[in-house]
Amino acid sequence: MICSPGNPTGTLINKSDIKKILECEYYKGVVVVDEAYIDFCNDDASISTLVLDYPNLIITQTLSKAFGLAAIRLGFTISSTEIASIFNATKAPYNISTLTSQLAITALEQGLQVMRNNVGLIKSERAKLMKLVLDLPYVSKLLGNHDANFILAQIVNKDGKVDNELAYFVYKKLAESDEIVIRFRGNELGCLGCLRITVGTGEENAQLIDKLKSILE
Ligand SMILES: Cc1ncc(COP(=O)(O)O)c(C=O)c1O
Repeated sequence: MICSPGNPTGTLINKSDIKKILECEYYKGVVVVDEAYIDFCNDDASISTLVLDYPNLIITQTLSKAFGLAAIRLGFTISSTEIASIFNATKAPYNISTLTSQLAITALEQGLQVMRNNVGLIKSERAKLMKLVLDLPYVSKLLGNHDANFILAQIVNKDGKVDNELAYFVYKKLAESDEIVIRFRGNELGCLGCLRITVGTGEENAQLIDKLKSILE
């Protein structure tokens, strides 16, 4: 299972690295690449066309992220016909609802440009947010590659040491007092002291920075 871009690192995995795994002579199993956040990357970032060359590759995507349609609950796979046949043969007999299906088709046809425009806005807000977050006291650095619609900030204490408790305190205070919910990711491997912040609108980001500043100060 490979998540590309990763969550919570936001790092797009190199196509050549995934190919190495697909071609590994010791591993003959299925390789699943979760591309839930792929629409926030460049147009050629998805490795979905590799399913034509690698029958053991399964790509998963969702309309929940860049399309903003989490409420319709639609995810899908891109795979070789062999794998697709296995899915069709083993899944529950019920399909997704007609309403979900109609909304998904509309999103993928007329909605494509809307999605691209929104992604463009999110990317430019992401760049601004990264600078503002890095300027906050007690934020030492951003981790990962920021290829998705969130950033991962590491919190340190006044001695400059990574501080998981302080990160958790900030997360909790922000949610309870200011009703802004970011994600505490300090319990995940390699993410000590980390907060994952989803990029919002300019106005939302400005509010977040204000609140974060007052909590940290
Ligand atoms: C990495 C990753 N994959 C897949 C999903 C699935 O999203 P959904 O169940 O809304 O399609 C998420 C949602 O948070 C995610 O972060």
